[in-house]
This record gives sequence, structure tokens and C-alpha cells, in this order.
Amino acid sequence: MRILVTGGAGYIGSHVVKMLGERNHELAVYDNLSSGNRWAVLYGELFEGDLGDIKKLESAIEVFKPDAVMHFAASIVVNESVTNPLKYYNNNTSNTINLLSAMIKNNVNIFIFSSTAAVYGIPDKIPVSEDDLMKPINPYGSSKMMNEIILRDLADAKDDFRYVSLRYFNVAGADSECRIGQAYKDPTHLITRALKTAIGQFEKMQIFGTDYQTHDGTCIRDYIHVDDLADAHILALNYLIDGGQSNIFNCGYGHGYSVREVVGITKKITETDFSVEEAPRREGDPPSLVAESSKIRSFLNWEPRYDDLEFIIESAWRWENKMKGSSLIKR
Ligand code: UFG
Repeated sequence: MRILVTGGAGYIGSHVVKMLGERNHELAVYDNLSSGNRWAVLYGELFEGDLGDIKKLESAIEVFKPDAVMHFAASIVVNESVTNPLKYYNNNTSNTINLLSAMIKNNVNIFIFSSTAAVYGIPDKIPVSEDDLMKPINPYGSSKMMNEIILRDLADAKDDFRYVSLRYFNVAGADSECRIGQAYKDPTHLITRALKTAIGQFEKMQIFGTDYQTHDGTCIRDYIHVDDLADAHILALNYLIDGGQSNIFNCGYGHGYSVREVVGITKKITETDFSVEEAPRREGDPPSLVAESSKIRSFLNWEPRYDDLEFIIESAWRWENKMKGSSLIKR
């Protein structure tokens, strides 16, 4: 199949491109390289462009003629979305409308969307399931929720158009051959932050909030290996190709770890007793986010291969060591 991947030079997109390429799909990556990297695109042709540039986007779709589109390109920093909401509504919501419009114009009707557990906000129950209410608590989550509503309405209006929204929980880890992984100089994500502290890039790390109603007072998250998430995309694509109806799936393992537990395992794996400071809560953090994952397992036959936090952290640690001091990491 011919697949256009927006954001395919980014962390998650590049892992999916790798997997699609290994399965001999023909690929075009559309990416503005604002946070992604040319070197991360292991397969296919790279169209350097912004989704806000409608002419360029339409031309890429006209030239490449995809059978399906996978849409990863987005801004993802929750804190930043609170201080700069318009950036998020532009990059995440308006640009998705541009992409869908260009697809419809060119009769491209299969779409895989990168959604997020942030659409749930603070869930009423854990694990949270796909039928639970979307009530995001920050503009990042709202921008993705709006896309989900747009997709629902579009699929209702247009019989040919079918989509899968994948709601990612906390994605971590790196490629087993260490070719690609998270590549930000100043990451906000817990595991990467802890590893970069272990490697000496930061003097210390902080635990945001130790007074949550959880077993050790710190937040609980469902950490999923990026290659298991990439598998979910391949399965979602096959499901739609085989005629599956539009659907929404959580992507998490169904169990969580606290921040303290993640820090403890990171210290063990890196064999480094790095400095950790207890800090106030970070605004907008739900106490606990764990996926009800039975739907994706039964509908898509998703069988995760790396449901093991030590393995996830080890794979990210190998990557951090490889990239230490590398000029390939721009921002
Ligand atoms: N944390 C720390 N110290 C740090 C970094 C994080 O204590 O230096 C804590 C956070 O407060 C939170 C937990 O670790 O309790 C996980 O934080 P991350 O920033 O790694 O991830 P989030 O759960 O905030 O967000 C992630 C993605 C979002 C996505 C969300 C969905 O980054 O894009 O999961 O749940 F929306």
C-alpha cells in the first residue's frame, strides 16, 4: 500500500515508518522537521513541509497518491499548551482539518489518528475505557478531542471515509537496533528526563507531587514500548483495509507504575544513584492514568511484546548512551 505519514520524522512516527517499511509498504513522510529529524526516516521519501501550507500538502497528496494516511504531526507538550493554546489549536486541530480536507479532495479515505489518553482528563475510574467521557483538562487534550469529534462527524457524513483513533498512554523506549529513539535536548517526559539525569546531562531531576492519593503519593502511568505502539498502528491499518468500521482504541498495557517506581527502576538499570528532588505538583497532571486495554486486544488481536518496564527503560538507556553528546539532537 501507499501510505502518507505526517510527522514521520518524529519519535513515534519514525518507529511506525520503520515497521511499515519493513513490511514493504510504499511510504511518503510529510514533516516540517520542527522537532523531527531527517535521519530518523528509515524508509520512504521525505516531503519537507508544514500542514499549514495547504498548497504544499495538497501537492504532496496529489503527487504521491496515498491509499491511506497516518497522522502523527502534532505539538505535544502539555504545559506549553496551557500557556500557548493557539499553537495547539493551530498545529493540532486546524492542521488536521487541512489534512482531512486535502484527503477528501483527493479521494483518500483511510485514516489513522494519533490521539492521547489526555482526552480523558481526570477519569472517574481506573482503568479508563474508550466509552468513558472525554473531559480533557488542558488545551493539548482538548485539541486532540476536537479532532476525534471531527473524525466522528466526517465518518458519519461520508460512507467511504473510515478511521481509527489510537489513544496513546505513556510511550517510551527505543528501537531494538538503536537506530531511532526520542531525540529532544530538553525532554519533559519522565523516563527520558530520568535517563538524561543518570547520564549526567542534568544535575538532578524532580518528582512532581508526592501527595497524590496513590500507594506512594506519586502519579501512576501506563508506560508502553514504542514498538508495541507501532504494532498497534500496523494492525489498525490492516483492520481498515480489511473493511473494519471506524473505531477508537486505547493503547496501553492496562497496568501502571508510580513516578517513584520508575525512578527506582531507572536507578537500578543505569546503576547510577542520581539526585532526585521532591517538588510540588505539576499543573494538569491526573493522579492516575491506566488503560483498559481489552478492546484493542480483542478487536485488533494486539499482543504486546514488550510489556516489561525494565526492558522499556533498558532500551531507552541504550539509545541515550548512543546519542550522548551527539550533534544529531538539535532541540
Ligand atoms: N514527572 C516527574 N518528573 C519529571 C517528569 C515527569 O515527576 O521530570 C511525572 C509527571 O508529573 C507525571 C509522570 O511523571 O506524573 C509522567 O509524566 P510525563 O511528562 O512523562 O507524561 P504525562 O503523563 O504528563 O504525559 C504523557 C504525554 C502526553 C500525553 C499524556 C497522556 O507526554 O503527550 O501522557 O496521558 F498526553
